[in-house]
Amino acid sequence: MTARATLSWRSAAQKRRYVRGLDAVEARLESVAWGCPSRLGESCRSTLGAGGKRLRPILTLLCARRDATFPEAVLRAAAAVELVHMATLVHDDVLDHAALRRGRPTVVRAYGAATAVSTGDYLLAQAFLELAGTGSAAAVDVLSAAALQLSRGEVLQRAAAYKVTTSVAEYEERCERKTADLFAAACTLGAQLSGVGPEAAAGLAVYGRLLGLAFQVFDDILDVSGDEDQTGKRLGTDVRDGTVTLPLIFALEARPELADLLARPLLDDPEVAQVIAAVRACGAVERARAVAVGYIEQARQALDRCDDGVERDLLADLAGRVVDRYS
Ligand code: IPE
Ligand code: IPE
Ligand code: MG
Ligand code: MG
Repeated sequence: MTARATLSWRSAAQKRRYVRGLDAVEARLESVAWGCPSRLGESCRSTLGAGGKRLRPILTLLCARRDATFPEAVLRAAAAVELVHMATLVHDDVLDHAALRRGRPTVVRAYGAATAVSTGDYLLAQAFLELAGTGSAAAVDVLSAAALQLSRGEVLQRAAAYKVTTSVAEYEERCERKTADLFAAACTLGAQLSGVGPEAAAGLAVYGRLLGLAFQVFDDILDVSGDEDQTGKRLGTDVRDGTVTLPLIFALEARPELADLLARPLLDDPEVAQVIAAVRACGAVERARAVAVGYIEQARQALDRCDDGVERDLLADLAGRVVDRYS
């Protein structure tokens, strides 16, 4: 099980407000999982019960106008973004042939592809039901656009599997679609549904997009340098699956001979270990990390466009934590 992200609260009252908000979001997620029919119930509850950082709902709450309590619409939107995220993780693990998620066997490993596809579909449908309850067509627009980009990003990634000539620009486009757009939507929804002004809302969307890009680069770094106990995911999943990520692009530049291995499906464990060792040894991880840190710096700058009505300090703190977590 992986744990919810934590923040440096400025006061006990601030902490109370967010913990209450997140608990309310969690209760909504639980009611979706417990309302899930028959065999899907088990897989929905195991996906939810395995934890996760809840980063996207945290973003939605932090981007909402500071007030005594969160409007119900913001709580609904926060639950909806997490449901879209969970749905796409369940589907993503089918596409990526992934074995481990949040420290547990993936739904596809535990229950098979048919159940994984249905579980993801169910969670996705529930996400939009939850959001439609806000009565805001603009909110449904924002999340459906992000979900559409996400599925396009996943298709792009599959189409480029084992493509060792993948460029940095192609990689970035894929990350924008599959990850950054949902981060931006999480921020936009919090702002939009709580009456944040247009200038600040635009700044928050830029912040979310850049944080999402950085987050995906760090996630890709963890695939070659992480600790499975902390990530809850199997090391080398991208390498095994032909997903040519930023550290792998940089490693291919430094060690062109890696192309033979990275272009080949079904690498065995010693071959995966050989690729990982080469990526770690050639400076590719440090180069990728510098790119991610650059995105984080820009994300922090985007917060300058926001006034005091939103939690700028906590958003800056969260950006720092994304870096620290991967240091
Ligand atoms: C994983 O997201 C998918 C990526 C975009 C890299 P998270 O790392 O936020 O997953 P959980 O929700 O904490 O498990
Ligand atoms: C993000 O990419 C997946 C989605 C946005 C659904 P990854 O494939 O790298 O995510 P993990 O590593 O499986 O969590
Ligand atoms: Mg994956
Ligand atoms: Mg990954």
